[in-house]
Amino acid sequence: MTVVPPVPDVFDPRLYARGIPYDAYRELRDRHPVAWQDEYRVLGWPAGPGFWAVTRHADVVRVLKDARRYSSYLGATQIRDPDPADLPFIRRMMLNQDPPGHGRLRRLVSRAFTPARVDRFAAAATARARALLGAARATARDGDGTVDAVRAVTDEYALLNLTDLLGVPPADRGLLLAWTERVIAYQDPDEPPVLGPDGTPVNPRSPAMLEEMFGYARDLAAHKRKHPGDDVLTSLAHADLSDGELEMSFFLLTVAGNDTVRSAAPGGLLALAGHPEEQRALCEGRFAVTTAVEELLRFHPPVLHFRRTAAEDHVLHARRVRRGDKVVVFHASANHDERVFPDPHRLDLGRSPNPHVSFGDGPHVCLGAHFARLQLRVLHEEVLRALPPYETAAPPRRLVSHFINGLKSLPLRLLR
Ligand code: HEM
Repeated sequence: MTVVPPVPDVFDPRLYARGIPYDAYRELRDRHPVAWQDEYRVLGWPAGPGFWAVTRHADVVRVLKDARRYSSYLGATQIRDPDPADLPFIRRMMLNQDPPGHGRLRRLVSRAFTPARVDRFAAAATARARALLGAARATARDGDGTVDAVRAVTDEYALLNLTDLLGVPPADRGLLLAWTERVIAYQDPDEPPVLGPDGTPVNPRSPAMLEEMFGYARDLAAHKRKHPGDDVLTSLAHADLSDGELEMSFFLLTVAGNDTVRSAAPGGLLALAGHPEEQRALCEGRFAVTTAVEELLRFHPPVLHFRRTAAEDHVLHARRVRRGDKVVVFHASANHDERVFPDPHRLDLGRSPNPHVSFGDGPHVCLGAHFARLQLRVLHEEVLRALPPYETAAPPRRLVSHFINGLKSLPLRLLR
């Protein structure tokens, strides 16, 4: 009798707090490239119908590129099904639309996001990184030689860069942080869920939970119409967007531009802290920082999955996928697929080509990738200037989330 090995579980958000389940991903890629996953009740969140996990690089790219068969619109883009009553509301966001309609909002928002505008932020980002790293170094020097890079540098760096770009007053960065945490960190015990009248947690993406943020976006847009600035919200306030579309675009940028960079920045430092040889080579200029940033993004993908919904019955790797089934692509698995990346668990700062999917692919490929890359390049350049070699002083605290590869703390020891 042949014993069929069980399909590893990659759904449980608690797994990810212990580290990304790379062994399970490999097992899935090798034996079950399209694998059914149970969506059981977890952390107080009710059970769902289950989903297909897609883990090979070629299949992840195929799903992301084929928006006709794999829709972002039918069931939106999170594993957890939204309340059907909330679907029309959630679909106001470009993330949850399909071509050709998606193209209209995408074009309008990208106009606000010109490379020239983003490039103008390089000087501000450099000054900010320099100041934060200088203060972090002083903290370590005056203390026991260690510093929490998340608290001292990366959270503040990402948040303030985003407030600059959006045109949000820097003093309101705490609001941005609170809103994004509510949406992204909702599985983490540090962010207790808001309970509805029936005692079950309220979906953080539902209209009730977003009203405060929307009110803020409306007021800020009105202010920008009177007092325009060189920022994204000024462009959105003057674009041909309905109020609902403007509010949703603000929400999308606030969330998409925040936890992703707040993951990538410490994630890159963590990778380098664990690889002293590579850290030294980078410091000696043996790799271009831009090439190294791509490898750090491959090695520590900030986004762990996105969901699509099958728009038609079809067969994928001999599995019958039915119309309406959820199909979930796993970016960290695709980035470590040995079919594409030789020696995928080696940090190779000169890796080229490096077709990682950390920014996704297809029509929804990250709109903020240029801005994110700029922030990461500047941060690493400034780290090389301002910090001595560093290593981890204690294991990082990871976010309980199967969506964002978040670090809540990263204690580093500065070695000189
Ligand atoms: C390292 C940082 C980042 C990573 C890893 C990342 C990753 C991603 C991924 C994987 C998607 C595709 C979603 C899908 O397939 O449905 C996406 C979309 C998007 N990202 Fe990013 N992102 C980052 C930073 C940013 C920043 C800084 C912004 C803006 C301030 C931003 C704005 C967006 C927007 C607006 C979309 C939706 C595009 C659409 O639906 O057409 N992202 N991002």
